[in-house]
Amino acid sequence: MLTDLFREAKHTVVLSGAGMSTESGLPDFRSALDGMWNEVDPLQLASREAMRDERDLFIRFYKHRIQKLRAARPNAGYYHLADWERNGDVSCILTQNVDGFHQHAGSLNVSELHGTLCNVYCDECGETGSNESYINEEINCSCGGFKRPGVVLFGEPIPLNAIHQAKLETKKADLFIVLGSSLQVSPANVFPIEAKRNGAKLVIVNQEETEYDSMADLVIHEKIGEVLSKLARANSD
Ligand code: APR
Repeated sequence: MLTDLFREAKHTVVLSGAGMSTESGLPDFRSALDGMWNEVDPLQLASREAMRDERDLFIRFYKHRIQKLRAARPNAGYYHLADWERNGDVSCILTQNVDGFHQHAGSLNVSELHGTLCNVYCDECGETGSNESYINEEINCSCGGFKRPGVVLFGEPIPLNAIHQAKLETKKADLFIVLGSSLQVSPANVFPIEAKRNGAKLVIVNQEETEYDSMADLVIHEKIGEVLSKLARANSD
């Protein structure tokens, strides 16, 4: 079924979430068992208020995430997606992930809805730099400002260019595939609905149920790595 939908589609858009990177050793946020937010309150750590009022905790939290990120690598699923972009089977990737793994694996048309943890920028002058500064805890900019991670914190707007690209691609999609997202965070969780409204086929590949499963044309509650490897084998036949 997924192979047929994939082969018939003319404009396939993928929305990826943290479930895409758990097979690279990075925890997701809301998995029932070991999701990151089971231990900590995201609003307490990944928010502008936390950056302002709990700065030491904020720095420790992002230093830990950046250390894990720098020790991890994209898994095979990311390379399949990049291959499919090169041969025209995938048109665009909308990602909620901040690990940069899609680009690292070779995907070019990627819209990072929640920014990136691969670099930091000064909250005053905007100067950007490597996330390595958090490893060395060099968080003060020469201008006196604070170097913050390039992610979209809770309470901050999504980058306008990312939203614009996501809307355009969702409108063009005739196949919209969700990979590893609980679809609990907006506006990312609006794009599957928009695609469906525009007449696209909707596929959700996620280990746990999502509240959007009932509107999908196909739901696969399996590991993404296995699903994409199977699709790659079928697609190469
Ligand atoms: N294969 C398939 N599904 C998986 C796998 C896997 N290997 N690993 C995890 N999952 C599923 C989990 O069951 C979970 O439902 O991926 C989903 C990940 O959901 P979340 O942890 O909520 O991550 P995500 O949807 O990307 O979160 C969106 O919330 O906290 C914010 O900014 C953060 O971008 C993030 C946003």
